[in-house]
Amino acid sequence: MDFGCGGGVDIILAAQKTGPKGRVVGIDFTYQMIERARQAVAEAGLEDRDIDLRVASMEESRLLDKSADVVMSNCVVNLCPDKEAVYKEAFRILRAGGRLAVSDIILTENIGAEVRERFQSTWAGCFGGAVLEADYWRTVRKAGFAEVRVVARHTLAPKELEAMARCPGEEYNPAPAKEDLARAQGKAASIKFTAVKPSSG
Ligand SMILES: C[S@@+](CC[C@H](N)C(=O)[O-])C[C@H]1O[C@@H](n2cnc3c(N)ncnc32)[C@H](O)[C@@H]1O
Repeated sequence: MDFGCGGGVDIILAAQKTGPKGRVVGIDFTYQMIERARQAVAEAGLEDRDIDLRVASMEESRLLDKSADVVMSNCVVNLCPDKEAVYKEAFRILRAGGRLAVSDIILTENIGAEVRERFQSTWAGCFGGAVLEADYWRTVRKAGFAEVRVVARHTLAPKELEAMARCPGEEYNPAPAKEDLARAQGKAASIKFTAVKPSSG
């Protein structure tokens, strides 16, 4: 299950991993991205595979309980105001012993309420929804996940931070003030982590 599959790059990679007998499900809350993902699957020659692409939100996916072996998500949870709902949903649809693999953006230090609010004034930017790391892990564990392991961590360099804050472009997201970017410098990181739904869950 790919939460926020966007244009489908990870759907194609997942289909290569699962092989012809595997099933891959991608959800995204925009119809346009699901259409793009369908196109990408066709271009990759994977139309005959069991790939299910649906318009749905991560907070309320309508996917069946305990129906997934793996839930993955790349650069999406940071866009979502209700991270607790997302991780509860991932936990619900995973089978016992199922695995979670997520790439996300977090704050490693406080940047101050006002600066945060200004970044949050548009949620389209990949930085607007980033929360403090301790709060992030609390949310993941509160949903029931265990064996939370950070497998990669990278503090965003100035140019990366700016690109994240401006994503997906000025048409949707006004450029942040230089002072706000300076306040956030060195305090945001890209992380990749894995976790497990305990067998008794
Ligand atoms: C930065 S893109 C990442 C796309 C993809 N995971 C990738 O790595 O290429 C974020 C995607 O998440 C989707 N998205 C954001 N919030 C969502 C939500 N609450 N539920 C479902 N999809 C969401 C957006 O429509 C967009 O396609």
